[in-house]
Amino acid sequence: MIEVADRLNTVEEYYFSKKLREVNLLIANGKPVINLGIGSPDMRPPQKVIDALVESLQDVNAHKYQSYQGLPALREAMAGFYKEHFNVSLSQTTEILPLMGSKEGIMHISMAFLNKGDGVLIPNPGYPTYQSVTNLVEAKAMFYELDETNNWFPDFKAIEKQDLSKVKLMWVNYPHMPTGAGATEQLFKDLIAFAKRYNILIVNDNPYSFVLNDSPKSIMSIPGAKDVCLELNSLSKTFNMAGWRVGMVVGDSNYINHILKVKSNMDSGMFYGIQKGAIEALKCSSMWFVTLNSVYRKRRELVWKLAKALHCTYDEHATGLFVWAKLPPNIKSEAFIDSILNINYIFITPGTIFGSKGEGYIRFSLCASEEELVEAIARLK
Ligand SMILES: Cc1ncc(COP(=O)(O)O)c(C=O)c1O
Repeated sequence: MIEVADRLNTVEEYYFSKKLREVNLLIANGKPVINLGIGSPDMRPPQKVIDALVESLQDVNAHKYQSYQGLPALREAMAGFYKEHFNVSLSQTTEILPLMGSKEGIMHISMAFLNKGDGVLIPNPGYPTYQSVTNLVEAKAMFYELDETNNWFPDFKAIEKQDLSKVKLMWVNYPHMPTGAGATEQLFKDLIAFAKRYNILIVNDNPYSFVLNDSPKSIMSIPGAKDVCLELNSLSKTFNMAGWRVGMVVGDSNYINHILKVKSNMDSGMFYGIQKGAIEALKCSSMWFVTLNSVYRKRRELVWKLAKALHCTYDEHATGLFVWAKLPPNIKSEAFIDSILNINYIFITPGTIFGSKGEGYIRFSLCASEEELVEAIARLK
């Protein structure tokens, strides 16, 4: 046997990759599992997006290698999207880099900016990929705790008690997954001031701005942000295009160039038809979000009922594609979701996969139909 690289021992197989095997086994054995685990939108993208992809296939250019920076029209659409929805002006030639989903950006940014041993501030609870990528590039994960009592915002005083001399990068993610906490302008200002004080690059991972959120915000709208911030964005949740793999990183042209240096050595451009579809999506009017959110709003009402049936509490003001619910005292998240999976055949995500601060919480996805949610509630009665 050939031994694997040491770095592989620093990560585990992704939770969902493992758990879905268990769920699929139940399904193969005829169990009617309702999946409220993963945030993979189950609705279709806008029809014009699908049409643009289909039409593009006849174009002779569709099948060639594509530009490392994406089609100019795609970057123009991304710049237009940032201007229209966040009132942020970006140069489409130098300040935007299309990505194949924002997840790959987490690796590219880490490879561009982190050396072995550099410190990386990571939210707990938070998206698990920040930690695994940090481990893979042999940097040092330094968790900052988020707490309900502080509206799931970073506690700067607590962070500043640590030695920050080796910290190079800080992942932030507002609106926050899994808790659904929304950003405020003041939070973004505080983050930028903190980053400038300690010379840290802040990356706001922002894929949930348009789901059940009345005031989408970008950290790039704050004066001074371009000095110390990058932002990741994504079409996955915004336009029901998770499987298409389209995202972007935006920020100062120097930072973007460094990331391009990594990315251009890793892939050879995004498929033409996907870019054509993405352009159409980005040009959608705000009506798209109204329609999308009217569905999610109804589903969320049902998930709240489900959470109540499980004796959980939740914040009705939270945003995003999930309901983050607190279990009754002294109940462990993983044991709880396993029993609901095996007895009621409902798959819910345990809060612990997002870090130790997720203990005592569970996360419901809104990516299930009303019929399925009604059935889930009925099963608990
Ligand atoms: C916080 C967060 N960041 C990034 C991603 C990755 O999204 P994308 O589909 O754009 O790669 C996800 C997906 O679940 C997420 O929850």
